[in-house]
Amino acid sequence: MFQHVAYYAGDPILGLVDKFNADPRPHKVNLSIGIYFDEKGKLPVLSCVRTAEIERAREAQPRSYLPMEGLASYRQAIQHFVFGKNNPALLNNRIATIQTIGGSGALKIGADFLHQWFPHAKVYVSDPTWDNHKSIFEGAGFSVSTYPYYDAQTISVKFEEMVSFFKTLPADSILILHPCCHNPTGVDLNPQQWDEVLQIIQTNKLIPFMDIAYQGFGDSFEKDAYAIHKAIEMGLSFFVSNSFSKNLSLYGERVGGLSVVCPSTEEAQLVFGQLKAGVRRIYSSPPSHGAYITAQVINTPALFQEWEQEVAQMRERIKTMRQQLYQTLKTKLPHRSFEYFIQQRGMFSYTGLTPEQVQRLQDEFAIYLVGSGRMCIAGLNTSNIEYVANAIAEVLA
Ligand code: LMR
Repeated sequence: MFQHVAYYAGDPILGLVDKFNADPRPHKVNLSIGIYFDEKGKLPVLSCVRTAEIERAREAQPRSYLPMEGLASYRQAIQHFVFGKNNPALLNNRIATIQTIGGSGALKIGADFLHQWFPHAKVYVSDPTWDNHKSIFEGAGFSVSTYPYYDAQTISVKFEEMVSFFKTLPADSILILHPCCHNPTGVDLNPQQWDEVLQIIQTNKLIPFMDIAYQGFGDSFEKDAYAIHKAIEMGLSFFVSNSFSKNLSLYGERVGGLSVVCPSTEEAQLVFGQLKAGVRRIYSSPPSHGAYITAQVINTPALFQEWEQEVAQMRERIKTMRQQLYQTLKTKLPHRSFEYFIQQRGMFSYTGLTPEQVQRLQDEFAIYLVGSGRMCIAGLNTSNIEYVANAIAEVLA
């Protein structure tokens, strides 16, 4: 009966996590999935989250269904956090925001919406990008192509090529953009480059879909959202998928959001209705616990402040690991350049290691990177960094 069902070779990232978990070698190191581990190699429970959870557990909490669009206080928290409280688009009710099942859920609801209302549009993702961008938009029925992005020679963005390409696209082409901490390369646009890209988007009437999953891991909550703030200021209409998986360390709670910035209040209401319809036909309504906790942290000034500090600590620890890896490898292999480790931002480094070298790291050293050579720096700590540096030096020698 199911003979015709195609074989699934597994996900390039989640498949590695399964493999890592099954690996019995005690010295194994997981540098594959984008998860922040602390200095002890543990998944942190943030203190702000703990406080909010204790508070919420004080009394029994009945668990009714949330509405299709999710928890109101959580949706408001997303809007304040991502766009800023006093944003004119927000004050004019031009932003339709729903709670989603993680950032992936936001991409899925957004992709389905776009396919229904812009059926002839084409989708463009950066070359390279997070693999699931392609899968989700193709799954929604789109044809997905790439736009030039990463230049391995210069460890920077192929900016001229990218903007020339954007200029050739017809109106309503959908661009998936990473406002900060580009996944997988760790190479971002600077503010001037964003200004230019957004200008082309406005002139050519393209549809930007900004996927922000690492807000706070680049420079700060505020600076990492530069592209979003600028797009609002320019009066653009656009999509934002956001996630609190990483910055609140709430991965399993699936705390995400989808916001659509619209030209008018009336259009925002139409869009909001269709987003709700999209949720209803897939999973009816989102789960509640993570949303209550996230809303509590963001909407309580003292907890928000504590959160900001905790994210700053995570960000700084990643930067320290980048420095240490760079210094150690530079000493071991003085003829090679490892500058990229300190140039790239956020959790990821695109190492340029070949699939064969990545495989050797896994087979011989129990060190797991994604096959593309993407390394999650947040999996390094002072106990494993020397071991990892030695292994990299060995496969590169
Ligand atoms: C990653 O890129 O590793 C994360 O976004 C986790 C995932 O779902 O792939």
